[in-house]
Amino acid sequence: MLRVESLEGGYGSGKVLFGIDLEAPKGEVTSIIGRNGVGKTTTLKAIMGLLPEAAGTVVLDDDDLSGRPVHSVVRAGIGYVPEGRQIFPALTVLENLRVGQRKPPRVWTEERVLDLFPNLKNRIRNPGRALSGGEQQMLAIARALVTDVRVLMLDEPTQGLAPKVVEQIGDVIGRLKAEGVAILLVEQNLNLTSNVSDRVLVLSKGKVVETLGIDEFKRDEERVHSQWLTL
Ligand SMILES: Nc1ncnc2c1ncn2[C@@H]1O[C@H](COP(=O)(O)OP(=O)(O)OP(=O)(O)O)[C@@H](O)[C@H]1O
Ligand SMILES: [Mg+2]
Repeated sequence: MLRVESLEGGYGSGKVLFGIDLEAPKGEVTSIIGRNGVGKTTTLKAIMGLLPEAAGTVVLDDDDLSGRPVHSVVRAGIGYVPEGRQIFPALTVLENLRVGQRKPPRVWTEERVLDLFPNLKNRIRNPGRALSGGEQQMLAIARALVTDVRVLMLDEPTQGLAPKVVEQIGDVIGRLKAEGVAILLVEQNLNLTSNVSDRVLVLSKGKVVETLGIDEFKRDEERVHSQWLTL
């Protein structure tokens, strides 16, 4: 499991995170919600080692990743799918998967990854640019998996996707959870959050202000929404 304590960070002199504490257990979905600009993306970046001035503790199982460079965080098993479906448009699906793949033996082989995404399996020789928005998002997730992730961090994976595709992303998250991956999900779509999460953290001004089990979240959703998400 991933454990984060007192995580701080920002950009230059602008501090954004003021001591984030969170845990993301194996085989569970931990979601982060909050208004625009509260530091959701910055939290993921800080965990990933992308912020030069971050402070705090990041531990994956018994591996202390605090202050480690990005490549070392990736090697430890943390995968990051940033906002905006980052894939290589000119490379085929298979080539996209092979760029950044870990050397064998691999836990997440191409076959195992493609079994999770039947749509992609049918299109392995198509260039990334020929895929639909939903397929591109699936490919972005698949690309993170082949680095042999134990923790998968997804930043707004359903943004701009049609409801049917949002449902498919939800299914994928469910299957990854069943495979034992720890998922840290930043999501605006509360419906999806409610369907796939085990725990929901509310972020405000760079701090976790509430941690709710999923039943608690479902019961309090309206209150959480009006207290922390409306302007
Ligand atoms: N590269 C950057 N340089 C300087 N400031 C930044 C940078 N990226 C984000 N910020 C600032 O940091 C704060 C937190 O941004 P962050 O992207 O983490 O918010 P967020 O919760 O992900 O918001 P959103 O819901 O809009 O994605 C904001 O005030 C933002 O303007
Ligand atoms: Mg963001």
